Formats: sequence, structure tokens, C-alpha cells
Amino acid sequence: MCGIVGYVGPQMGSKALGVVLEGLARLEYRGYDSAGVALVTADGLQTEKRAGKLENLRSALDSHPMEESRTGIGHTRWATHGGPTDGNAHPHRGGEGDRLALIHNGIIENFHSLKKALLAEGVEFVSETDTEVAAKLVGREYDKLGDLTAAMLAVVNQLQGAFTLLAVHADSPGVVVGARRNSPLVVGLGDGENFLGSDVAAFIGHTRHALELGQDQIVTITPDSYSVIGFDGAPAQGKAYEVTWDASAAEKGGYSTFMEKEIDEQPHAVGDTLLGRTKDDGELVLDELRISEDQLRNVDRITFVACGTAAYSALVAKYAIEHWTRIPVEVSLAHEFRYCDPIVDERTLVVSVSQSGETMDTLMAVKHAKELGALTLSICNTHGSTIPRESDAVLYTHAGPEVAVASTKAFLAQITAAYLLGLYLAQLRGETFGGDPKELMTELREMPEKVQEVLDRMDRVVEMANFMADTRSVLFLGRHVGFPIALEGALKLKEIAYIHAEGFAAGELKHGPIALIEPGQPVFIIVPAPESPHDLHKKVVSNIQEIRARGARTLVIAHDGDEDVVPFANEVIRVPHCSPMLAPLLTVVPLQVFALHLALAKGLDPDQPRNLAKSVTVE
Ligand code: F6R
Repeated sequence: MCGIVGYVGPQMGSKALGVVLEGLARLEYRGYDSAGVALVTADGLQTEKRAGKLENLRSALDSHPMEESRTGIGHTRWATHGGPTDGNAHPHRGGEGDRLALIHNGIIENFHSLKKALLAEGVEFVSETDTEVAAKLVGREYDKLGDLTAAMLAVVNQLQGAFTLLAVHADSPGVVVGARRNSPLVVGLGDGENFLGSDVAAFIGHTRHALELGQDQIVTITPDSYSVIGFDGAPAQGKAYEVTWDASAAEKGGYSTFMEKEIDEQPHAVGDTLLGRTKDDGELVLDELRISEDQLRNVDRITFVACGTAAYSALVAKYAIEHWTRIPVEVSLAHEFRYCDPIVDERTLVVSVSQSGETMDTLMAVKHAKELGALTLSICNTHGSTIPRESDAVLYTHAGPEVAVASTKAFLAQITAAYLLGLYLAQLRGETFGGDPKELMTELREMPEKVQEVLDRMDRVVEMANFMADTRSVLFLGRHVGFPIALEGALKLKEIAYIHAEGFAAGELKHGPIALIEPGQPVFIIVPAPESPHDLHKKVVSNIQEIRARGARTLVIAHDGDEDVVPFANEVIRVPHCSPMLAPLLTVVPLQVFALHLALAKGLDPDQPRNLAKSVTVE
């Protein structure tokens, strides 16, 4: 939700501001409605903060340059408590003479009562945020204890909710202290300098040596040391790891937007997610799962929990896994899961799907599932994030860093990982109802090339998007695995092009939505492969005829060689042929490209759509 950076460098160094601003630029996807920095300088603590994008902060710093410093923190915000104003932007200050600065990601749920008590003591507040309460508390403790780590420790247990906090103090140059509960924080280990960040993108330009922190931990960094303690004050350990991607992977690399770059990276996202997960003879090996084969054989129900695009990947997974394994699969929006008295026990596998691994709704669903005794497995794209750590097992997707707010390559990687899971379970249980898992794996391995073929054919889709820049409403229809793709096509268009869009199961049309069809109404239809079971293909062709007869402009996504759709299509967008279950990896691509180019045609920034943030770390 918010992006956080901390830096301490060598005694004679002065690069804190540069490092912090560079980190904020890489984290801006996490929130971009205000930004701020605090530096510990020879003249004391200096802060600057501005509402709006990072550019506004940079302009303010150009007009009022800050003193040189080797110790700094920075924040990019997605507002929760208090609107996006200069005053509510972080850092917030506290302690005697306002000599402490603090930044925060998350929500302090009991801030009203804490603030009330502080107000009663005469403490004055200048913002509407929950963060300022933490700044006042840590500042006050520092004045008593004279030590930043001790001050943080004295406060964290008073706070309820989810938070990452970073603090610096004018009297402690060369020290940054961080604390985390249910919110991300990683340490970057440099040579004579150390870093803190919401994720490794914050410091990837400087070091690939990282340290994962556990839940409820406090970390103190100096230029050449770090130490970790628990919220109980006992010494603790982080887990060191090497980041496998470099700064260029998080940069635009010649593209004008991250979204375009990430759409183009999809063949790799699928290919890398498949890598190393089969033996030479095609047998799947997922020993990384850390759940025993016996436990998996014992599973009699699977429930997916996820939000947004990740939930649509789970819907695709439902069709595939039920077909391949004959295990009943349910998909629950993570924010609804806890409130529907889910039927879950020790034979239920609860699979969470999350790109960021930090989505609070999904995290809470996982915790609830664990409380109910379920086995929990996370399909996740972010190494070391909270959801995989809270789960019994993890199947990482290897899409690489996804920066654009609208998820694209992570979606394809999530579907791929879900296919792997389904085929692995089928293999383990000797189930062949949906085909031989080894043969299906062979076809899955051909998909990266086919995704590339789709990308190579997108010129007409770009032209259509440019031509349709004034469109006010678009409908999307699909059946079977095409249904979640219709939902995803509509979501992409809503979130980045701000166009009213709705996805429907095509069979539902005549139960109401067909009333929306009027002459000229654009409708995308995702057509299943001609050999799909249960006459699905024929049924969707009939649906196209029904809407075409009522004046709809039919934009048809069909497999190569499918001529049945031609008489009823205003446009046919072709994808290479593949078996029905794997088609979502191909049919979603034109819809992503369409949404991207429609947003660009409207002059919008697809990477940072209004009101949204990349990871939603509040409920
Ligand atoms: C839409 C989008 C969101 C996310 C959702 C879950 O393009 O990106 O709908 O899919 O917020 O996020 P993660 O996958 O990080 O849990």
C-alpha cells in the first residue's frame, strides 16, 4: 500500500537523499498520492513532503535543497487515514523538539484510543493520520530511553493492526530502526551501507544480498551492522537470501510503460514458472511444496482464496483442477471467506493466490483457514513476502517483478502454477479422467511459444483500441474457462481505461444482460476451441448470433482455423490452437493489449491508475 525506504551509509558519505529517492521511484507502484523524506543532517533532522506523485517532492527539493546526509528514510503513500495532503504525507514527527521522524505502512487499528490519551496529556497533532500517533509515542520513549531500538520496542506492543514503521532521530545519526507486523519489510545488506525497504526493489540498484524478517520483529541498521530482535525483546534472526533479478528487471528497459513491458514478458513468465518442475520423462516434481504426498493424497476439497485478477486465475484453476483431479474446488474472494463460515477441515487444501504476497484480505483468509485446521498453500510471485511465510507450503510463480498496478504477467504465471498444482495432484492420485498428466505437461511446455505468437499478432488489436478511444461501455462474454477471462478483460478495461465494462458467462446473457445490447454496443466474445466438450463451441457461436442480431459489434477471439465464427464477427482476433483447458493463457492477451492501448489513446497513465495501489495491505 505504501512504499518505505531506509538508508545508512558511511561516516563521510552523503548519498542518503539520492538512495532514498531512487528507492521511492522504484516503489511508487505501491502508492503514489504523496511522498516524503527525512534526513539526519549535521544541523539536525530535516523533512520534506508533498501531496501528489514523487515528482512534486522532487520539485520541492529542487527549490529547497536539503543538507547532505548519510542517514535517511522515505515514503510513498496510498492514503488510508486522512486524505492525500501535504500535512498527512509521511514522515511524521515526534518527541522533544520534534527530533524524531517516522514513516508507516499499514493501519494502526487502535489509533483513536491512543490519540485520545495523548491529547489528554496535551500532545498536539498536525495531521489526521494514525501514523502521527506512532511518531509521538516513539518520540516520547526516545526522550526517556535515549535509544531508538529501545524506544521502538517500548511502543510496538501498544499498537494493534498491521504496520511497518521506520524511524530516525536527530541524535542518532547512522541508525535507522524498523519494525514489522503483518506488513512487509526487507533488509538490504551492502558494503559499508545498509538498506531497508518494503521490497527489494527499494535497494536493488545497490545490493542483491537481502535479509527476510519474521513477523513481529524489529531491525536496527547502521552502516556496517544490523541486529534483529522480536517484539518480546529477545534476539532474533533474519533469513538471508540472494535476489535473483537485477535493477534492469524492475526498470522500463526501453518501453514507455511498465504494463507494456510486462505484457511482453509473458512468454518468460509462463516459461520460467514451468522451469525445473518436471523430470526428463515429463513426471512432475514439486518437492518444494513441503507438504507430504500422503497429506496431498488425503485432500478431499480445495478452496482457493484470492482477490481481483488473482481470484480470476483461481477461477480458471477451478475448471482445470476439478477436471484433472476430480477433487471439488471452490473459489472464495478472500475478503468474503472469513464471513461465510467456511466449511474447511484438515482434509481441505486452502490455496491462496497473490502476486504481492501482501494482500491483507488474502493474508487474513489464510490465517483463518489455518485456525480451522486446513492445509494452506500459497501461489505467490514475491519471495519472502508475508502470505507464503504464513502458509504451510508455497509454489512460487517466476514472473519477475511486476510494477504496473494492473496485473498481467503475474496472472499468466498464476494460471500456470495452478495448472502445475492440478496436474501434480492428478499424477499423485493416479487420476486420468482429464487426460494423461504427462501429455498435458508436454502441451503446457509449448505455451510460452504460443503466447509469443499471440503477442506478435497484436497490430489489429492496437488499431481497434485507438479507434475505440471514445467508447463508453464494453461487454465481455465467455463460457467455461473463457468466463474468468471475460471477467479479467472487463477488469483490465475498468481499472486502467476507466471505461464501464462487464464480463458475463455467455449462457447468462438471456437471463438479463442481453437487454444491454443496442446497436453498436461492442462485445468481446471468447470462443472455446472447436473440439471443446459438451458442444460448448457451438453454444458460444449461437450466443454471438443472438447479440449480433440485436446490433452488437462483435469482437471475437477465436482459435486459428475456426471458420464458424466468421459470418457473425465484426472482428476476428486469432490465437494459436491449443487444448480447451489451456486457452486462457492465450485468450487473455488480446484483452490486456486492448485495455493498455485504449488507456494510452485516452492519454491515461496505465501504470498508475487513479485510486489504486499495487498491493492492498489494508482490509
Ligand atoms: C488487477 C490487480 C488486482 C490484484 C489484487 C490482488 O489488475 O492487479 O486485482 O490482482 O489486488 O493482488 P495480489 O495478487 O498482490 O494479492
